[in-house]
Amino acid sequence: MSALAGKIALVTGASRGIGKAIATRFAAEGAAVVLSASRLGSHGDQPGTLEKSVAEISTAGGRAAAEVANLSEIEARADLVSRAEAHFGPLDIIVNNAAVSKMQLPSQVSASDRSWMFDVNVNAPVDLAQQALPGMRERGRGWILNISSSTSQQPLVPYPDSHMAANIICPYGATKAALDRYTEGLAHEVAGDGIYVNTLAPEAIVLTPGAAYVRDIAERRPDLVEPIEMMAEAALALCSGQHVGLVSYSRQLVHSLGLSVHSLDGREILGDAFLPARLDPPA
Ligand SMILES: NC(=O)c1ccc[n+]([C@@H]2O[C@H](COP(=O)([O-])OP(=O)(O)OC[C@H]3O[C@@H](n4cnc5c(N)ncnc54)[C@H](OP(=O)(O)O)[C@@H]3O)[C@@H](O)[C@H]2O)c1
Repeated sequence: MSALAGKIALVTGASRGIGKAIATRFAAEGAAVVLSASRLGSHGDQPGTLEKSVAEISTAGGRAAAEVANLSEIEARADLVSRAEAHFGPLDIIVNNAAVSKMQLPSQVSASDRSWMFDVNVNAPVDLAQQALPGMRERGRGWILNISSSTSQQPLVPYPDSHMAANIICPYGATKAALDRYTEGLAHEVAGDGIYVNTLAPEAIVLTPGAAYVRDIAERRPDLVEPIEMMAEAALALCSGQHVGLVSYSRQLVHSLGLSVHSLDGREILGDAFLPARLDPPA
């Protein structure tokens, strides 16, 4: 029996990168998946689109649908859960994966960039959770997974890269620290209702389009890179198990639960927590 047979999931930020990988894996495990992003088609020079992600999952035999919402806009995200539920039914799972970042020194980050990052990275996950929780409580089950980042903490000295890199990531990291703290509190509030809330962060760099700016670090330090399948495997564990309030890291979670890392179609075992990364993961 597939791990998510009969389950319905919403994954934000699923037009590319980690969100698309998680949605693909969840669909392969039997979930009907609603994928969301700010646009349906292409924009700028970004690879991957929401419509392509949905088409690829459907072609592979999965059940998938698209819902567009620019998560930086309060009105656009206000009814995302009910729009998502119109496709396949009530949501069992929400993966709050979409995030934005702007590299700026903490002494200089502008008010508009701070609001933008906090809106997409913190307020949207909170809003989507609050929209879904009444239904999840009524049904006595649910899983909410918030995708975080190790940048929620100041890196240990010596920094893996420059002082400048450690400093300009701080405002984005601050949004992820807020997300971690909110998640822990919410998790303990709703665990008694059968709702499992956790955060999961890549332990290392996942070379998605969004992480292209650290490709040079990845090329110099392949030990700081992990395969995208590691996040999909860990996300599956947290959205099918009974973990409460973990602020977890992909590789460590895979290792501590003794999981095998599968390909995104779920068919092949690629390895374990020591699986090395490729420099060109699926877009
Ligand atoms: N990659 C890493 O190494 C790494 C490390 C630490 C944490 N993370 C976290 O992992 C998650 C995914 O990262 P990623 O590297 O896969 O990111 P990515 O490649 O940049 O993809 C980001 C996704 O978010 C969507 N998105 C961006 N702005 C949005 C908005 N305003 N409204 C709705 N959707 C929006 C994008 O879709 P559209 O542009 O089509 O709207 C896209 O699907 C994020 O939470 C990130 O913070 C990643």
